[in-house]
Amino acid sequence: MKKKPRALEGLKIGNSDYPLEDTAPLSGPLQGMKICVVGAGFVGTVAAAGFARFGHQVVCVEKDQNRLSLLRSGQLPYFERDLEELVRRELASGRLVFDSDLEKSVEGKKAVFLTVGTPSSSGGRADLSALQEVISALSRKMKSGQILVLKSTVPVGTAEIIKKYFSQNGKRSEIEVINNPEFLREGNAVFDFFNPPRIVIGGNSGEAIETISHIYKMGMTKSVPIYTTDNRTAEMIKYASNVFLATKVGFVNELARLCDSVGVNALEVARAIGADPRIGHQFLEPGPGWGGSCLPKDLQEFIGLADSLGVSLFIPRAVSEANLYQFEHIYLKVKNLVENIAGARIGVLGLTFKANTSDLRQSPAIPIITKLLDNGAEVTAYDPAADDEAKSLLPDIIRVDDPYKTAEGADCMLILTEWSDFQLLDWNRISEIMKSKNIVDARNILPPELLKRYGFNYASIGQN
Ligand code: UDX
Repeated sequence: MKKKPRALEGLKIGNSDYPLEDTAPLSGPLQGMKICVVGAGFVGTVAAAGFARFGHQVVCVEKDQNRLSLLRSGQLPYFERDLEELVRRELASGRLVFDSDLEKSVEGKKAVFLTVGTPSSSGGRADLSALQEVISALSRKMKSGQILVLKSTVPVGTAEIIKKYFSQNGKRSEIEVINNPEFLREGNAVFDFFNPPRIVIGGNSGEAIETISHIYKMGMTKSVPIYTTDNRTAEMIKYASNVFLATKVGFVNELARLCDSVGVNALEVARAIGADPRIGHQFLEPGPGWGGSCLPKDLQEFIGLADSLGVSLFIPRAVSEANLYQFEHIYLKVKNLVENIAGARIGVLGLTFKANTSDLRQSPAIPIITKLLDNGAEVTAYDPAADDEAKSLLPDIIRVDDPYKTAEGADCMLILTEWSDFQLLDWNRISEIMKSKNIVDARNILPPELLKRYGFNYASIGQN
């Protein structure tokens, strides 16, 4: 495993440590099962390789030929810590194969896990077109006794709709439909798969629930609570989890804004309140706002579901609006340091929505940089892992492959992602090549006193 670079004294790196707990080599009386996983995104690939590691025989279906050939050679089309190593190990064991033929791959498998994307549609509700495409193919192929497992995040009520669709297509109730939502964090997905705080399995067939529980029990070297419930409840648990996480981050971002106005250090407040087990320390790090492929879409689906039922929810809507304002707040922090944004050169460190991922989906960097550009700034940006998607999402920035180049002649530096690499840069050298020594550390990852000693006007989130 790549050793994490040594951080500057007394600094936390990101929001989680990362020891990949090795699972016990699988053997013993429990027999592996034949499993199909449909969709080789980061969730599907982690689940497929993880199930193989547990000792099951897994076929992971991917229709994109380029992605398929990469995966078959043990490479990933995106960055996910330790996943490449895990995939290579399980390919070599023969327990994991990748295929593009859905109908062939489903044959004879006890459980078929769906991990296709369910992104937000334009109206904010979940777009289930990819799921529908797979379901119609499976309805022709799946046979009695097989179990369909929805691991994708699906709107409340989806499993029942699928059961009804199956029965209308001659399957009656022979195909059990189970919900098994994932709670994997990008950048920590492999760790989270092998060290889940809980597993959720929803359905109305005890036998099918037991079968899916068994798939996990084979690999868990320590007891993990398995919450079994009905389909609808399992679907709601997933949304409730992500909406709460967004709410918690949204709270600490607003706390930080108020702390900045009264001269209180929000990080000290967060540490002290987080010591209360009812609050907890995690997801209390103020930043540029939350993003990613999950929290935004799941919050919008949650709000959309309530709206469609005429249920008035106030907090989720406020969480969404507060997050949009956080992007504005970061822009204003830069504006406050730079006399005039028009014509200013801004050096940006970090484009991805968080560290240890290459993913830019719904990254706060996009609206924040767009606002800077719209007001006439010139933006030069560096990110150690952001993929080429950045070109289409932020076509007007200057993308450099050396972080120091973002500082050359810059009027202000802006840190948007908590890559630990940025803590190890020579900030004294950066101060000497900038035009003005301004910095907005939107992730609070640098030591304020050290930066101030280098002559920086140092602004952060909640440290005043
Ligand atoms: C999230 C959930 O954590 C995971 O359980 C679910 O399965 C998928 O969605 P992920 O989207 O990978 O995972 O990101 P996460 O680590 O939750 O962070 C979400 C956003 O909140 C990121 O933009 C992150 O930078 C931000 N964040 C998180 C903060 O700003 N402060 C924090 O303290 C924690």
